[in-house]
Amino acid sequence: MSERIFIGVAWPYANGPLHMGHIAGCYLAADIFARYHRMKGNEVLMVSGSDAHGTPITIRADQEKVEPQVVLERYHALFLDTWERLGITFDLFTTTHTDNHQRVVQDFFTRLLEAGYIYPDTMLLAYCAGCVRFLPDRYVEGTCPHCANARARGDQCDSCGHTLDPIDLVNPRCSICGETPEFRDSEHFFLRLSAFQDPLLEWMAQYEHWRPNVANSTRGFLHGGLKDRAITRDLTWGVPLPLDGYEGKRIYVWFEAVIGYLSAAIEWAQRNGDGSEWESFWKDANTRSYYFIGKDNIPFHSIIWPAMLMGYGGLNLPYDVPANEFLSLESRKFSTSQDWAVWVPDYLDRYDPDPLRYLLSINMPETGDTDFSWAEFVRRNNDELVATYGNLVNRVLRFTYRNFDGTIPPDAAAPGEAEQALLDTAREAMAGVDNSLAHTRFRAGITQAFSLAQETNRYLDTRAPWLAIRENRADAACSLTTAIKAINCLKVLLAPYLPFSSQKLHEFLGFDGSASDESWDADALFDAIRPGGPLRNPAALYTKLDTEVAEQESGRLGVPA
Ligand code: MF3
Ligand code: ZN
Repeated sequence: MSERIFIGVAWPYANGPLHMGHIAGCYLAADIFARYHRMKGNEVLMVSGSDAHGTPITIRADQEKVEPQVVLERYHALFLDTWERLGITFDLFTTTHTDNHQRVVQDFFTRLLEAGYIYPDTMLLAYCAGCVRFLPDRYVEGTCPHCANARARGDQCDSCGHTLDPIDLVNPRCSICGETPEFRDSEHFFLRLSAFQDPLLEWMAQYEHWRPNVANSTRGFLHGGLKDRAITRDLTWGVPLPLDGYEGKRIYVWFEAVIGYLSAAIEWAQRNGDGSEWESFWKDANTRSYYFIGKDNIPFHSIIWPAMLMGYGGLNLPYDVPANEFLSLESRKFSTSQDWAVWVPDYLDRYDPDPLRYLLSINMPETGDTDFSWAEFVRRNNDELVATYGNLVNRVLRFTYRNFDGTIPPDAAAPGEAEQALLDTAREAMAGVDNSLAHTRFRAGITQAFSLAQETNRYLDTRAPWLAIRENRADAACSLTTAIKAINCLKVLLAPYLPFSSQKLHEFLGFDGSASDESWDADALFDAIRPGGPLRNPAALYTKLDTEVAEQESGRLGVPA
């Protein structure tokens, strides 16, 4: 029976290009998962978009002396281009700066206000007389009360890691003009998170499949106690309140960005049909909702968003929040300001998408932090992607194409035990990868697929059709055909991970249409390899990289372009 799967993916701030850390954090996993479910014949809706509001965008706009809109449009366009080139297949990638989003957010706000889950209260906020404005938390600098770091920010101290409120800072100053801000009473709206502590604990207790890092940190926050949080700010960039008399305030970016999951589904339905299709993804209790995010976003997706949904009522809560941990770069934290990053558009200017998808899959920070290094990229490309898989495909298809008139051999000998054993291994691999992907175990899945490639290499080494063909053409035909059947399974197993090469392989094997329309069924994939069926002249799936690539690329790091 077909299933319905909603996939929400973290909304990147549209304030700069994406680097590999972002891709490893959530986008690749989400895409593999979506592709897998589509291949299984399930109904999938995968959405996200540019996070358009918030200080990351306004800081950038201030630096460039342009409107935030300009920054948003530039990076939104770049994101769309990156998804296309990297093969990340959103059903919709929109922004939080649409009329639709504003309408949905305001409706959400009004409903929670009416239900008493949002209420007004006053709070003390930093006001800068020099700049004539309330200052966002990040714009207040001062000395950290915990570690005496003189350059702590109003939201957090980077030195000791404590989260802060601007009022906690010793000797606070405005980071724009340097003046000492005063703290003024300001009326704001608060989300009554305290009301959801027990319902959330009860809700999460029903799930045993959450990753340990997600379950443990969520439980920790819940047991620590939930405090009501201000969800409005004194700003002019963002979603306005649906109330008169609050013209200088906007809804806090975190409160409205998560509502993007809902508004994007509604926008998708309006663009593709009569506008009602989003409801089956949000209201049918059989739909499972997955949220792919990096670990820094866990509480927003495992606590705040579920609390908001509980308050709103009638919409599905997350079924799983498979957050990844962090990727580092050459053993150091990614840092935009220090140019310690590999920007995805730059990578794609120089290399193919699948080698990166391979490395970030096999090395995904699924259960712990992992590292990207150029040396490892080159090594895994050459020793695994090219040597284990690419060469297997290449030597089998080229040899068959040349020796059997560009067809699957027509007169093969009957298969024996070795053939049965390889086909059984392929069948088990199909089931194993299926199970891994269904449980969001992406590293395990690609490892199992590569074991099948290794097994097929061993089979060929034993059967050696390149030698057998001289004395026993029918025997060589049999082992080549069997290897091609296993390769046809590899094409499908790897299609969610390496979609571009699976499509090429699909065509080399003589098929038309899309590799991702193939069914996840070993016997059907064996049967599709018919004696006499036409092959296409194959080319290499991957290219070997010179080891100097690692040195060149490492040399570029930390050097501003
Ligand atoms: N823009 C936020 C970040 O990059 C993520 C937002 S995820 C959302 O950390 F769902 F809240 F939008
Ligand atoms: Zn100031």
